Amino acid sequence: MKQFQTSKAIQRLPDQFFATMIDKLNLYKNRGYDTLNLGQGNPDQPTPSHIVQSLKEAAENPDFHKYPPFHGYEFFKEAVAEFYKREYDVDIDPETEVAIMPGSKTGLVELSQCFLDPGDVALVPDPGYPDYWSGIEMVGAEMKSMPLREENGFLPDYAEIDEESWEKAKLMFLNYPNNPTGAMADADFFAETIQEAEKNDVCVVHDFAYGAIGFDGNKPLSFMQFEGAKNVGVEVYTMSKTYNMAGWRVAFAVGNPSVIQALEVIQDHYFCSIFGGLQKASATALLSSQECVTELAETYEKRRDLLVSGLEEAGYHVAPCQGSFFTWLQVPEGYTSQGFADDLLETTGLFVAPGIGFGTYGEGYVRIGLNNSEEALRDAVKRFKAFKQK
Ligand SMILES: Cc1ncc(COP(=O)(O)O)c(C=O)c1O
Repeated sequence: MKQFQTSKAIQRLPDQFFATMIDKLNLYKNRGYDTLNLGQGNPDQPTPSHIVQSLKEAAENPDFHKYPPFHGYEFFKEAVAEFYKREYDVDIDPETEVAIMPGSKTGLVELSQCFLDPGDVALVPDPGYPDYWSGIEMVGAEMKSMPLREENGFLPDYAEIDEESWEKAKLMFLNYPNNPTGAMADADFFAETIQEAEKNDVCVVHDFAYGAIGFDGNKPLSFMQFEGAKNVGVEVYTMSKTYNMAGWRVAFAVGNPSVIQALEVIQDHYFCSIFGGLQKASATALLSSQECVTELAETYEKRRDLLVSGLEEAGYHVAPCQGSFFTWLQVPEGYTSQGFADDLLETTGLFVAPGIGFGTYGEGYVRIGLNNSEEALRDAVKRFKAFKQK
């Protein structure tokens, strides 16, 4: 069959490291291994029933069978504004400061397409969520890593960024609670970020995917809570993790009106917003009782306690896990992250994500998800113990 040549933009896209890893997991599964997947970040629980019910009712509404408004329904944007006021005491103008997106993965790629040209620089956390790289590569911009080190609480040290990179930088991606390290950012860090962004004319994109998942009584801080944040950037929020709605593909961005407007312009060309029923059910999620969210965070916290204490008892070092649903385990001496993940899979059937898949500074660690039942995590701890003793 004729093989058509793809565009340079497509050729530049980085390999999907995790797709390769999943192929490996499936290979072991097919060989009859008793595998346990701790490597992926897929919420394991169903969407709360009142949200599902809201979608069912909305699906019957013929108004939603038509094309939705290009930029989404006002009622959803108003619900977003109400959510930010209630949760963070932040004023958001639903008309100019909210963009609705079909999942934040899409929005993050679009932001690079909106603001980067070839030769521009995007500052990215390393280790970090690999989808930041996709949009940057697609437009032919350069990536400058901001190392996240355990001794700095996995926060970037802005003093490490050289003058030339600051000059060329147009976008900066941040993400707290952090995937993959489980770290949280404090108020001082966000205040410093705003100062640097102002000084260097950089647009900050704070990916708040795990905004609802903070542990030990600490509610994750929204970037928008800080004075001047709206002037220098946006926050991207997904329904996927807070409400176990990963399959629904609904997210939104809030903040700087010029960034919101650019997102709406690019989306005018890609989409005609998302199905109105999804917007209705998402508004229901944001405006109803948040008890399900509290319970969810408690569930992850219990799982974290069980897993981390078990691993530490077995002699592993786990970085402090303050939020998100990931723990970041240091691999035993003598191993690379990939070597450890491979050996662990081969000898115990446990599948973890090697840190190198998240960037150079992810080397030396593996990511373990909390998206399995307590029973499964107890089993995982046993297998980790057996691995250590082999
Ligand atoms: C840090 C981070 N940002 C964004 C996403 C994408 O979320 P969505 O389901 O909205 O595309 C994920 C999903 O795993 C994530 O971990």
